[in-house]
Amino acid sequence: MEIRDVEGPAREEAVPVLIDSFVGIYRWHAKRTLRRVSHVRGGYENGELVGVSLLEDLAPGVGYVYYVAVLRAHRRRGVAGTLLDDALARFRARRTEIVYAAAEEDNLPSVRLFESRGFREIVRDEPSWKEGGLGAWGLRSKMMVVSGEILLGLRLNPPGTSVELVPARAVRP
Ligand SMILES: CC(C)(COP(=O)(O)OP(=O)(O)OC[C@H]1O[C@@H](n2cnc3c(N)ncnc32)[C@H](O)[C@@H]1OP(=O)(O)O)[C@@H](O)C(=O)NCCC(=O)NCCS
Repeated sequence: MEIRDVEGPAREEAVPVLIDSFVGIYRWHAKRTLRRVSHVRGGYENGELVGVSLLEDLAPGVGYVYYVAVLRAHRRRGVAGTLLDDALARFRARRTEIVYAAAEEDNLPSVRLFESRGFREIVRDEPSWKEGGLGAWGLRSKMMVVSGEILLGLRLNPPGTSVELVPARAVRP
């Protein structure tokens, strides 16, 4: 599989992946995020877009995986895992200290996917990521974690190694 940036009008090619992966409010939010998020990475097999990751730099040192989605016909073959590895490599290269992801608590494939790459659920009242825990103090509102979802976190680079990040690009039409 080839993974590359999905930019501008090409992002519309990811809509079928999102429609195949989400229903209701999540589908609406995923499509909206696809058009607004800073980074979209696409997994291509024989020229077909089979999976996407929607990524954001929430704050200096903090990364967020909004969505990972794979066409049903291509699941359980490592596509999402490869996209998540690619996302984490990108965050590492940007000296990101901590990466968060939200998952519906009963979405086993999603929770297992993140756990397979070392993410763990953040416990109640956990110390902030700046204090050595994974707590997302002051950041949850930016992530729009809703009822029924859990927040997972993964520490990447050691504290104090973050660098100034390039500001997110303007919202695309
Ligand atoms: C979650 C999703 C992205 C996984 O995609 P995928 O390409 O099938 O996942 P992979 O084959 O790369 O699996 C990676 C790991 O995820 C876990 N996993 C994936 N599907 C799973 C399932 N149905 N049951 C249990 N674990 C699963 C496993 O740990 C797996 O590792 P393994 O193959 O070594 O067991 C896919 O099911 C999907 O698009 N679902 C709908 C959208 C969604 O819920 N996205 C996640 C939240 S944003």
